Amino acid sequence: MTKKKVLVTGGAGFIGGNFVQYMVHKYPDYEIYNLDLLTYAGDLTKHREIEKNANYHLIQADIADHETILPLFEREQFDFVVHFAAESHVDRSITDPGVFVRTNVLGTQVLLDAAKHVGIEKFVHISTDEVYGELDFNPATFFTEQTPLQPNSPYSASKASSDLLVRSYHETYNLPVNITRCSNNYGPYHFPEKLIPLTISRVLNNEKVPVYGDGKNIRDWLHVYDHCAAIALVLHDGVNGEVYNIGGHNERTNLEVVQTIIKALGKSEELIEFVEDRLGHDKRYAIDPAKLEQLGWEPKYRFESGIEQTIQWYLENKNWWENIISGEYQKYFEQQYKLQR
Ligand code: NAD
Ligand code: DAU
Repeated sequence: MTKKKVLVTGGAGFIGGNFVQYMVHKYPDYEIYNLDLLTYAGDLTKHREIEKNANYHLIQADIADHETILPLFEREQFDFVVHFAAESHVDRSITDPGVFVRTNVLGTQVLLDAAKHVGIEKFVHISTDEVYGELDFNPATFFTEQTPLQPNSPYSASKASSDLLVRSYHETYNLPVNITRCSNNYGPYHFPEKLIPLTISRVLNNEKVPVYGDGKNIRDWLHVYDHCAAIALVLHDGVNGEVYNIGGHNERTNLEVVQTIIKALGKSEELIEFVEDRLGHDKRYAIDPAKLEQLGWEPKYRFESGIEQTIQWYLENKNWWENIISGEYQKYFEQQYKLQR
């Protein structure tokens, strides 16, 4: 029997990186191809332990580069594509939307075209709950797969656009696709521009933590390991053309998240600094995961155990994040927050 070939785009990033490791270990009979451009968010040191595995392969390439992507698909004849590669940070999309359109929209279309050209078994497009826009603070309301798309940031607009392209390749060409829309992830290898790793790294360095607005915006947090298991399930068992929401009912205000981390690290809440709000800041996200649960998925982590594991990981892997925040990141941080570290 020939081995299944799985192309994972964005496998040097946070979620894609965790997914590559999950697949290399869980499916030793599959060949895992990590295709990544290695932008500021890509990092290969996380794969040191698997890079010598016979079933792990690295391809450095740009998903928006048709001239590279099409011949690659012709040569490798992938069975599965799991598409994570994207510009992923909302704040950066507010400052510089253009690259989000190129990578997230054009890059997805180039991959879809190549997949259609050679024929594949499944294309799983990793999207986000942010395409649904925002919810109000009524705790009985959730995003379902029927919620209309109403993206509010350039990032979420680019992701919604890519979702529509994926849908169109299914409707028009019968390409076997799934779209997953997950809530906020956290866990190992989360890039320290995002709220949770930013808070952990700054609190450990006794630096102020910038909380946008009044800190009352709500996010629904899911451990990245639970996200990876959900994606693998959709890859194998998802019904072609269907969308699956992924989330575990772990809603927290941003202030609660920051306070939890400060408390766990035994530091003072004086480190909290309320700063100017994010433009167009979505109030609340919350996922109804009933459809995915019917497929047989349930999360293993509650927020309490997941955040504890994550904080411990950042304590044990200081080198990884210290290396990141000592480089280009410094400039980004100063520009974004207009303050000195
Ligand atoms: P990330 O920013 O950590 O990683 C993105 C990866 O994509 C990086 O390795 C980067 O080098 C690569 N990349 C960027 N442009 C590329 C290009 N043109 N060609 C090839 N590779 C390129 O992102 P993440 O947080 O891991 O998110 C991964 C995916 O999951 C994204 O599609 C995002 O929209 C989605 N998502 C993220 C979250 C979250 O909480 N982080 C939640 C739901 C969905
Ligand atoms: O919901 C899924 C989305 O979650 C993904 O699609 C995105 O790729 C991912 O980045 C994430 O988006 P958010 O904007 O929700 O994540 P972020 O960590 O940037 O912010 C989380 C919340 O914390 C948000 O309400 C803004 C707030 N925040 C963020 C930062 C970086 C602060 O208060 N201060 C900060 O410094």
